[in-house]
Amino acid sequence: MSFSNIMDSNSYSADHPVDPATESLIAARDRMLGPAYRLFYQRPVHLVRGEGTRLYDADGACYLDAYNNVASVGHCHPHVVDAVSRQLSTLNTHTRYLHGGIIDYSQRLLATMPDQIDQVMYACTGSEVNDLALRVAEMHTGATGVIVTTDAYHGNTAAVTAISPSIGGATSLGEHVRAIPPPDSYRVPADELAARFADDVVAAIADLQDSGAGFSALIVDTIFSSDGIYPDPSVLAPAVAAVRRAGGVFIADEVQPGFARTGDAMWGFLRHRVVPDLVTMGKPMGNGLPIAAMAACTEVLDAFARGVPYFNTFGGNPVTVAAAAAVLDVIDDEKLMANAGDVGTELRTELARLGADQPRIGDVRGTGLYVGVEVISETGAPDRAGARALVNALRERRVLISVCGRDGNVLKIRPPLVFSSSDVDWFCTEFAAVLASPF
Ligand SMILES: Cc1ncc(COP(=O)(O)O)c(C=O)c1O
Repeated sequence: MSFSNIMDSNSYSADHPVDPATESLIAARDRMLGPAYRLFYQRPVHLVRGEGTRLYDADGACYLDAYNNVASVGHCHPHVVDAVSRQLSTLNTHTRYLHGGIIDYSQRLLATMPDQIDQVMYACTGSEVNDLALRVAEMHTGATGVIVTTDAYHGNTAAVTAISPSIGGATSLGEHVRAIPPPDSYRVPADELAARFADDVVAAIADLQDSGAGFSALIVDTIFSSDGIYPDPSVLAPAVAAVRRAGGVFIADEVQPGFARTGDAMWGFLRHRVVPDLVTMGKPMGNGLPIAAMAACTEVLDAFARGVPYFNTFGGNPVTVAAAAAVLDVIDDEKLMANAGDVGTELRTELARLGADQPRIGDVRGTGLYVGVEVISETGAPDRAGARALVNALRERRVLISVCGRDGNVLKIRPPLVFSSSDVDWFCTEFAAVLASPF
């Protein structure tokens, strides 16, 4: 079977022994869902319950969740559960009827963005809104060429698979797509990062223009998560200026950094002091309910919105909007942006301290509760196997993380935003233990 960086860097493979109950669940899954699906870890986890930053398996064992950004305000947060239950037992229709919930929510959401971004459209997944953003950009520019980073992931529709090199496998980059290196702050000197990234964008624009596709859009995940987590906030402004000079559209994919995760802003693009033409968001938006959105500047949206009617059966329905509104309530009420900033700093500080004694930890980076730890070999090369071994060793100690990056060697630590100082202690105790054993 073909290797997919984003799907396989931490996936189960049948050569690892598991207990009979797990084996029979895996076999049933394989039989009915087929081989496209992947499971995490050499010993997959069978979860049955969650609460805050804790997950519980079928035997009642408790895990520390340091990975899941969808249940962003905490697993089964009572305020979200209550809002969803109330709406579900009152009305659930779609956007072809008037409903106050979507109006109130849109107002709150747009208030978190720069004034130029003044309209919003709803869907169920990040893939769908990125697909929509590509269509909007194409109608605005009259061109199809798209620039992405080399290990970008933007979703799973046909159009966004073609701009998601990290999926690998039988899909390939579209002919209208150019992939440029991410701003790798570990390997590129800080004072060269922004210029190199902008130069690469300029070169890719020229190449697309020569190819006949023309230049439509630059789309990036503003924390470059699948590329390996690169939080330097200086890199996007010069690149976005180059996009504008060429008449293209800048799409900020906020599926990963959005909704306060970075600790210092509601959106990743705000850290870079740029105003996107289109902003896409999903995952944490409904704390697990399927809601996603594309926010837009009217001027950029106009050609599409006037030319193409839009309806999405489940997108923006009253129940998912109730969940999304409850998520905003919790972010405010529990000051989760500040928590992400403070606890994220504690976590990175402690990880850097542990890493200082361990030459196989090359870098600890991130912002807020988006943290990457670069695992390297004795020679300094990216160490995919070492990272995988650490992830599985942590799993055996009931701490859940994963990996990312071009070489699958960057530990991806991205817990629910309610992660606390005592969770940091728990995490770092176990991390110290796995670092102390051979990996
Ligand atoms: C940056 C980014 N964009 C888009 C998507 C696609 O979102 P979804 O799985 O909701 O379609 C993902 C999913 O992992 C993502 O990480």
